[in-house]
Amino acid sequence: MTLPAMDDRNTDQATYWNGLGGKHWTDQQKVQDAVLAPVSKILIDRAGIKPGDRILDVGCGCGATSFDLAKQTGVTGHITGIDISAPMLARARELTPPGAPIEFVLADATVYAFKPASVNMLFSRFGVMFFAEPELSFANMRKALAPKGRLIFACWRTPRENPMLMLALQEAYKHVPKLPEVKPEDPGPFSFASEDRVKKVLGDAGFSSIALESADLKFDIAVGQGLDAALTTVLAIGPASRALQDQPPDLVAAATKSIREALATHLIGNQVLLGGSIWIVTASNG
Ligand SMILES: C[S@@+](CC[C@H](N)C(=O)[O-])C[C@H]1O[C@@H](n2cnc3c(N)ncnc32)[C@H](O)[C@@H]1O
Repeated sequence: MTLPAMDDRNTDQATYWNGLGGKHWTDQQKVQDAVLAPVSKILIDRAGIKPGDRILDVGCGCGATSFDLAKQTGVTGHITGIDISAPMLARARELTPPGAPIEFVLADATVYAFKPASVNMLFSRFGVMFFAEPELSFANMRKALAPKGRLIFACWRTPRENPMLMLALQEAYKHVPKLPEVKPEDPGPFSFASEDRVKKVLGDAGFSSIALESADLKFDIAVGQGLDAALTTVLAIGPASRALQDQPPDLVAAATKSIREALATHLIGNQVLLGGSIWIVTASNG
């Protein structure tokens, strides 16, 4: 596996997103984009994008948000999607609508030599929680932002507030050993759960007018396709899938039964609705 140029401290994350993580997200791209669409909508509603805006989509993954952003900016605008995952960017390139004003860059946002003041917005859906030294990463990305430019991103609040990610894992833990411990500030989905930490990171990186607004959502992890679809998804991507990987078949079967029963209690029609709680973070460059 060849990794892009990066801050060495991000090697573990780069390895994950170019390996198993990238494979899971690429395999599940269609479902993930449908499940996470409500987050894109909130971000885009809040961002106040205008035709002609130039936007950096950080940790753009398979590109869904870059495509949504390009619809807002029109062809007079420009979207740069940056990501450290080669497989996910390959999918993003495949899916790019012809003529869309989008370019994708394979790089670590911590070290990439952005053209100074080349965008007027930094945007991200769940793509900024994986930096080993986020102050450095945000300081580097701020160089790309024009004076008075704006930052907006979504990140997860605490695991306790996110059955969307944790319910299946808790059921799996009734049968299989726990995953290695992740400390609250370690790179990972919950590393920006603390409001104080987000404010400190962004303040240290030179942003001002930093604000966090919480949003409590219900995510249909079945995408309207019923209980089996929801089960397939949680076994294919996310923390439960990692806990069950390489476990003996009898334990996987027992865990799968427990997860199915727990998901069934959230089945409404063909939807499996699980709560998720996010921060919408906004800030300004001066
Ligand atoms: C949870 S995924 C979200 C992907 C996408 N934004 C979405 O909502 O579908 C996190 C993304 O951040 C990317 N990422 C992690 N560390 C990065 C880094 N240092 N620089 C750029 N992208 C990074 C990963 O490769 C992955 O695509």
